[in-house]
Amino acid sequence: MKLTVVGGGSTYTPELIDGFARLRDTLPLAELVLVDPATDRLELVGGLARRIFARQGHNGTITTTTDLDAAVEGADAVLLQLRVGGQAARERDETWPLECGCVGQETTGAGGLAKALRTMPVVLDIAERVRRTNPRAWIIDFTNPVGIVTRALLQEGHRAVGLCNVAIGFQRKFATLLGVAPSDVHLDHVGLNHLTWETGVRLGGPEGENVLPRLLTDHGDTIAADLHLPRPLLDRLGAVPSYYLRYYYAHDAVVEELRTKPSRAAEVAEMERKLLTLYADPALDEKPELLSKRGGAYYSEAAVDLAAALLNGAGSPYQVVNTHNRGTLPFLPDDAVIEVPAAVGQKGPIPLAPARPDPLYAGLMAQVTAYEDLALEAALHGGRTRVFKALLSHPLIGQYEYADKLTDRLIAHNREHLAWA
Ligand code: G6P
Ligand code: MN
Repeated sequence: MKLTVVGGGSTYTPELIDGFARLRDTLPLAELVLVDPATDRLELVGGLARRIFARQGHNGTITTTTDLDAAVEGADAVLLQLRVGGQAARERDETWPLECGCVGQETTGAGGLAKALRTMPVVLDIAERVRRTNPRAWIIDFTNPVGIVTRALLQEGHRAVGLCNVAIGFQRKFATLLGVAPSDVHLDHVGLNHLTWETGVRLGGPEGENVLPRLLTDHGDTIAADLHLPRPLLDRLGAVPSYYLRYYYAHDAVVEELRTKPSRAAEVAEMERKLLTLYADPALDEKPELLSKRGGAYYSEAAVDLAAALLNGAGSPYQVVNTHNRGTLPFLPDDAVIEVPAAVGQKGPIPLAPARPDPLYAGLMAQVTAYEDLALEAALHGGRTRVFKALLSHPLIGQYEYADKLTDRLIAHNREHLAWA
């Protein structure tokens, strides 16, 4: 089996390699290709990747290249984990929206739209080249904003599934709190990427006992502290929102906080410098502890599980993925991309039918779906008015004066990445 990682020079890659090595029985890889335009990083990351494989006795080959077409040739799956403009562009996404009193975040709000606009042409070009060489290959998209990017890929007819580590993070956390194996925890996870709620936590499978009320009673303080949300809010919801919901439920407080501390992009850039120094050490043959300070915990395990299911019919029977709605959430359009548990096999994901979400969640999902629709239009066709409309539609923006100012800033800060600007 051959798998190609686009953005393979990412400092995150050793997390992925560690998962591929540990879980080689689930996903037997003969060949792994890391492709990236940044040759300096690629060589450091590639070197460490080979040492991790060697240490763990994985006999698959790891190659590095800058040539995308060669990299995807014959690949069974292509994993996308790229960041157009790097941490520098992310830093801007996290900063200029604050000038208008709006949250500055890489996937949520105006910053997320900027990222979508930069990313879409690049991802669609890559997907087209994958299809040309290899029409049966699966595309696993980690590239943010995952919901909008996956929607674009599916709209263009690509064999794509979007993936995020929020659900697997909750699964692992809840398993620890409950004292059970992660595979025994089934989440009633519902929403859009980075806009999800755990409305039930079941033992054993989708029909198992719902232990969420007990989890909240016994461990509500721990869960709330992790999310930086107040415990009484979780008790009143009777559900666990993802930490991205903090940008909605505590928007103004978050804006104040972000104004006074260094951006996440700056923190990450600093960590990346240190990580690359560590990776350069030929004695290092495992993922360093520092990598756990990044947000990507368990993403390798989610990726292995999904690739195994898509390529082999193996892996966990139900996995939380981003895929077309197609009636799963009847209040959203069929072509919306939702994030829900699905049965995943070689033909792709089939979402499980969730209970109808509370209007409190359904309303926000519907509005953000409309935003994603307009964001996709803006990303595909460009133009100031399309950008303005997408921003105006976002529940965290909504006022035309803000949308106008944010549009100007978005275009000014991203001109080099926008063919039409
Ligand atoms: C989580 C999210 C990812 C996001 C990452 C950011 O893993 O699910 O979508 O890319 O956090 O982590 P970072 O360390 O870059 O802030
Ligand atoms: Mn994510």
